[in-house]
Amino acid sequence: MVKNNYTYSIVPEPVRYEENIGVFHLDNMVSIYSDPRYMTQAKALQKSIRNDIRYDLKIADNSNRDRAIKIIDSPDIKHPEGYLLKITDKNIIISASTDKGIFYGTQTLRQVMMQSTDTKLKSVTIKDYPRFEWRGLHIDVSRHFFPVSFILKLLDLMSFYKLNRFHWHLTDDQGWRIEIKKYPELIKTGAYRKQKDGSIYGGYYSKEEIKKVISYADKLHIEIIPEIEMPGHSRAAIASYPELSCRGEKIYISNKWGISENVFCAGKENVFEFLENVLSEVIDLFPGEYVHIGGDECPKERWKNCSDCQRRIEQEGLRDEYEMQSYFIKRIISYLKNRGKKAIGWDEIMEGGLAKDAILMIWRGDGIDTGKKAVALGNDIIYCPNPICYLDWKQTSTDKRGAFGVTTIGKIYDYEPVPEGMSEGEAKRIMGLQGNIWTEQMGTEKIVEYMAFPRTLAIAETCWSLNKRNWDDFAKRVKVHLETLKEMGVNCCRDIER
Ligand code: ACM
Ligand code: ZN
Repeated sequence: MVKNNYTYSIVPEPVRYEENIGVFHLDNMVSIYSDPRYMTQAKALQKSIRNDIRYDLKIADNSNRDRAIKIIDSPDIKHPEGYLLKITDKNIIISASTDKGIFYGTQTLRQVMMQSTDTKLKSVTIKDYPRFEWRGLHIDVSRHFFPVSFILKLLDLMSFYKLNRFHWHLTDDQGWRIEIKKYPELIKTGAYRKQKDGSIYGGYYSKEEIKKVISYADKLHIEIIPEIEMPGHSRAAIASYPELSCRGEKIYISNKWGISENVFCAGKENVFEFLENVLSEVIDLFPGEYVHIGGDECPKERWKNCSDCQRRIEQEGLRDEYEMQSYFIKRIISYLKNRGKKAIGWDEIMEGGLAKDAILMIWRGDGIDTGKKAVALGNDIIYCPNPICYLDWKQTSTDKRGAFGVTTIGKIYDYEPVPEGMSEGEAKRIMGLQGNIWTEQMGTEKIVEYMAFPRTLAIAETCWSLNKRNWDDFAKRVKVHLETLKEMGVNCCRDIER
């Protein structure tokens, strides 16, 4: 990219960006022509242009005319998400060999158009493809619940920055948020908690709403990964069905943050039956490749004092409760595998033995050693180390919002996900990374936006771009995007700290 002397501020930074002589005049007479294969993308672009800059462009059925945005199939572009965008004085050409590639080309064109202050678009050639296949954003809707309209807004913003994995943390101690037909108490009881002031807080997504979100995400080339937490972070499920715990006693849904000792019993068969039935409905609903099964922060106290759990340890020849957690997770992973799904778990699922087919999501500390161990075992990994990718941490050293520590946009931007000394073969097991929005301290949409933006731009850049880092250049591009995001109605933090 032409550093510090360019017309357009594209985020994430494209692999190659060149400015050429000449300008393209954009007005209402410009038409969109598409290879019939990409007509859906053409129509989506037409709609975006109408929303973004209020131009009403027609779709033409003739490719010969000049002054058109041409969407072209180009088998030479080998990368399945790659594209070429060429703006000349005559035409704008977006070429790729897949729908995804065309889609990302149109997102770059949207950024160009939104940054143009008049009707002249500078001639540029942009050649682009991503570094990682997993470019994710996670949101916890248990601690605070957010309606479908907000989820769709997040998906729009993700796709604008070429993120393609939405990790939906649907269950936790403070609320169960997904309708499961076989277990109606999960939403009747599990979705609502009594707050400390006595008020009731909660909400859930019906299957119809989830289908709407999946279909919306699909058009944006985003895969949704549902997360059903187990064996810990399961109070909302246990409050709905007390027989799922070791003691079987009635409990309330947590109205405070932290880790609960009350977890799924690993000894009782009915727990596995419940989870398989829940996962069966989840699998029927979500068409994607992956299901996240949590696995983090599971205290072992209840298991130590439960006759069912102790019997399990004995019968299965397990050394201790950590091996029983591994037994639990492996059993669920095996169920998912039989149903054609790949399982993802937080990095605690390594303790007591990592399942062969599990994808490890690394969150604790810098994660370097954990990552090295996992890839050496032959497992795929996704990075979201908390000192880098946790968007509930403070984003500047002086900001009042946020908890735990400081993870500035600069820290995310400077993060190199491939640890030093990792072989090329092992590095291929790093699927990518994601930003995590934990919402304990985020009670409103505005606060979520403030915490997630603009840091999500650095997540996108780290996921997408292999280019040498240049902080000044990035900070300058982010400043341009603060204006774009403001126009899009996003409440960004405006302090950018390295
Ligand atoms: C986590 O933050 N407990 C995965
Ligand atoms: Zn038990």
